Amino acid sequence: MIMTVTARGSAVFGAALLLLGTAALATPAAAQGQLTVYCSVQEEWCRPMVAAFEKETGIKVSMTRKSSGETYAQIKAESANPKGDIWWGGTGDPHQQAAEEGLTEEYKSPKLSELNDWAVRQWEQTKGRTVGVYSGALGFAYNTKLLAEKKLAEPKCWADLLDPKLKDEVQVADPNSSGTSYTMLATIVQIMGEQKGFDYLKALHKNINQYTKSGAAPAKATSLGETTVGIAFLHDHVTMIVEGAPMKAVAPCEGTGYEIGSMSIIKGAKNLDNAKKWYDWALTPAAQALGAQAKSYQVPSNKATPVPPQAPKLADIKLIDFNFAKYGSSEERRRLLAKWDAEVKNQPK
Ligand code: G6P
Repeated sequence: MIMTVTARGSAVFGAALLLLGTAALATPAAAQGQLTVYCSVQEEWCRPMVAAFEKETGIKVSMTRKSSGETYAQIKAESANPKGDIWWGGTGDPHQQAAEEGLTEEYKSPKLSELNDWAVRQWEQTKGRTVGVYSGALGFAYNTKLLAEKKLAEPKCWADLLDPKLKDEVQVADPNSSGTSYTMLATIVQIMGEQKGFDYLKALHKNINQYTKSGAAPAKATSLGETTVGIAFLHDHVTMIVEGAPMKAVAPCEGTGYEIGSMSIIKGAKNLDNAKKWYDWALTPAAQALGAQAKSYQVPSNKATPVPPQAPKLADIKLIDFNFAKYGSSEERRRLLAKWDAEVKNQPK
């Protein structure tokens, strides 16, 4: 009698174990928890990052790709009840603005000592609330076939983009949504001074066929021949050229600005420990090398990550001494964007 009970008991126990095992196998990530990533680089790079992180940690990631300015606005709108945990990539200026406005968390990664100075400076300037993950210079590119067909001279300088022959032939993003375009706005103001800079942007407006939402969209449009000239980061143009587009990338003769692509942990993150795991991992050479595999040719922030050979050589480009503290400050960024809306975007052509 006792034997029977024991035997039946074990059978039931065994079945329960089997069931438990199946459940655990079906959802290995559930045990490790979740993470919501707001990604502001190219979707082609966001996706392999998520896949590699999930594989390595068993953490289930939900990812949304939006431009830098848009992500900042989303984090601000959600601040009473944050939905995101970590914001990875995108230009540094809205990350800085978020830091200043207390929308992101301080964090000191053990990987900090492995990073280039420019990446650490970004962290220091924001009192530990954002860190540099990559860098890249701004420029433009032209479609070589369209330029020849239209018998236009090769544009080499920012000033050349004002040529009346380029009417409706230039494309750039909207600086409100796009960090790329805000980098251009801040670059032009730094090179020419505010008054002349806005005169330039107003004149350029006549040649703009579309202000896109995302910063890299004009590079794609140039590759497809939808615009003759596209303004974007040089590495975004290189991605198109590597894929065979008839394009030439130009580092403007007057000099140009650059970005410190950044990463921040969102204040009130529901999955804070997992956000820190992503943060540390995203600073490793192995994770950073995924950029070049995804044809994203920025300069990585970890000194040990190989710089992709396709990456535009920053040392060969006339870079301005970009004042990140000033142009990433909440007040200045807001002021310049409002001025651009009023004086440039809303002007008739
Ligand atoms: C592209 C570039 C990144 C840059 C990002 C900014 O993805 O490859 O280097 O940080 O654009 O995006 P946004 O749409 O905000 O200009």
